[in-house]
Amino acid sequence: MRKPIIAGNWKMNKNVTESLELVKDLRFKLADVSDVEVVVCPPFTALYSVYQFLKGSNIKVGAQNCYFEKKGAFTGEVSPSMLKEAGCTYVILGHSERRQIFKESDELINRKIRAVLSEEMLPILCCGETLEEREKNVTNEVIKRQLTGGLKGFTEDEMLKMVIAYEPVWAIGTGKTASKEQAQEVHKFIRDLISKLYSQKTADAVRIQYGGSVKPDNVSILMNEPDIDGALVGGAALEADSFVKLVKFEKK
Ligand code: 13P
Repeated sequence: MRKPIIAGNWKMNKNVTESLELVKDLRFKLADVSDVEVVVCPPFTALYSVYQFLKGSNIKVGAQNCYFEKKGAFTGEVSPSMLKEAGCTYVILGHSERRQIFKESDELINRKIRAVLSEEMLPILCCGETLEEREKNVTNEVIKRQLTGGLKGFTEDEMLKMVIAYEPVWAIGTGKTASKEQAQEVHKFIRDLISKLYSQKTADAVRIQYGGSVKPDNVSILMNEPDIDGALVGGAALEADSFVKLVKFEKK
């Protein structure tokens, strides 16, 4: 059985004060949740204070990015060991905003995954096609390229530590969610790909999140699909009430 994982990707939102206000609410309102893994991913500046506040609770902390080097002259970058010390369990890597705005390649993302695993944190590897790619019917090819590139060289044990997030770029921040059929189809494709790259057993164990305009009113529909194991949420994770509703989605 795969435990559902709902993660909030706050992106470049919330300063330290605002972050603490939000997690104060979440800690209280989600205290009774044990059947869903809950993760919040604040901006770098708020990670440590959020972690200190959530310590001992059922909410884990994740970062939104990192660099692959351990330390040195890399102005503006943050290393995995710094994130580990700040309290992170997860690190989101290869988000489409990183790929598009900051031109991150699959090779770079692959190195970042290696670095995150070497600090014993867990990568959330994102993939997803643009609208143009979907309209050209190359969605599967794009996903395959991103995942085979990102996962290159990792063992089965390492694969088991990762979460995959399928986030169609056209659904991010647009209010246009993928239909449950569209999402399920790609999630199944991803699981079959992991089975080919590793084994069926590993494919059955790896959790695949859906991301892209997940809201309280569509989360249950998506989560009840057989290969959708969680959600990576942007906008709706910024308010306590909507994030709580997402975590407490209705199970079939
Ligand atoms: P939205 O939920 O705002 O569409 O963002 C999705 C996302 O990019 C999460 O990583």
